[in-house]
Amino acid sequence: MPDFQVILESIYQDAINASDKGIVASYIPELEHIDKNNFGIHLRTSDGKSYGIGDYKKRFSIQSISKVLALSKAMELIGEAIWERIDVEPSGHKFNQLALLEIENGIPRNPLINSGAIVIADILVSNLKNPKEDFLSYLRDLTGDNTICFNKDVALSEKLTGFKNYAAANLLKSFKNLQNPVDEVLDFYFHQCSIEMSCSQLSNVFYLFANNGRCLQDKLHITDGQVKRVNALMLTCGFYDEAGEFAFEVGLPGKSGVGGGIVALLPDKFVISTWSPGLNKKGNSKLGMLALAKFTTKTKLSIF
Ligand code: DON
Repeated sequence: MPDFQVILESIYQDAINASDKGIVASYIPELEHIDKNNFGIHLRTSDGKSYGIGDYKKRFSIQSISKVLALSKAMELIGEAIWERIDVEPSGHKFNQLALLEIENGIPRNPLINSGAIVIADILVSNLKNPKEDFLSYLRDLTGDNTICFNKDVALSEKLTGFKNYAAANLLKSFKNLQNPVDEVLDFYFHQCSIEMSCSQLSNVFYLFANNGRCLQDKLHITDGQVKRVNALMLTCGFYDEAGEFAFEVGLPGKSGVGGGIVALLPDKFVISTWSPGLNKKGNSKLGMLALAKFTTKTKLSIF
């Protein structure tokens, strides 16, 4: 086995010394003041070891990373019926692009772009008794960690500025692909995106996708077949119009968020999470992507 601690240390040194750290997202006003000098990386291996360096215990807004967790909860609740309302193809466009949704009659390309995630939010609103509380409980149950929480200021900040998400939800509604009121679904979606976690919490929550559906608490949540689908969607759609680049450079299923987090995994081997708030031109964490590319190159551990 490679010496993970030494490898993470060298990745960390490269990251903190990088001259270009990307640009922090400003379209959600509450996120724009985060210091882009933060950098954390955390690795959890399937044989029970854990390694972390830098700001790996600091919490940040997980944003779109939450879409994977909402998807897995929806799979647990309604299974295959999801695919009557959402496709499973990469979009090749930005996460909030709307043109394809109109052209394709209100069927989102996949559950990881915003329109697809809004349909998943609609499914959770329909099928959970207390949607926000129950979703939070799901994440807490995956890890036994009751400190995972919403950031209400971030949720409100996005509600006040989320015009494209309102447009997407209204478009879905016009195509009869949204069953609940737009405001109710988006309230859930904005809260889901506002959840805060550290890199180590993210690695723990995502453990089930590297462990055949069985979470860190040793409870089976989704089947092997469903895990295969979640990981396939992360690989092909997790980075929007940069999904090809992530597969090319890193070679792992993964998911990014505009808060600067990335989580990626190799089934049966490990989950790795990075946080660096500066984004590249495609809206994914600049140094996070570089760090993961170095990690899979140095360890030779990727799916390819
Ligand atoms: O809906 C939005 O625009 C944000 N709540 C999430 C976007 C996001 O994280 C895109 N991913 N990189």
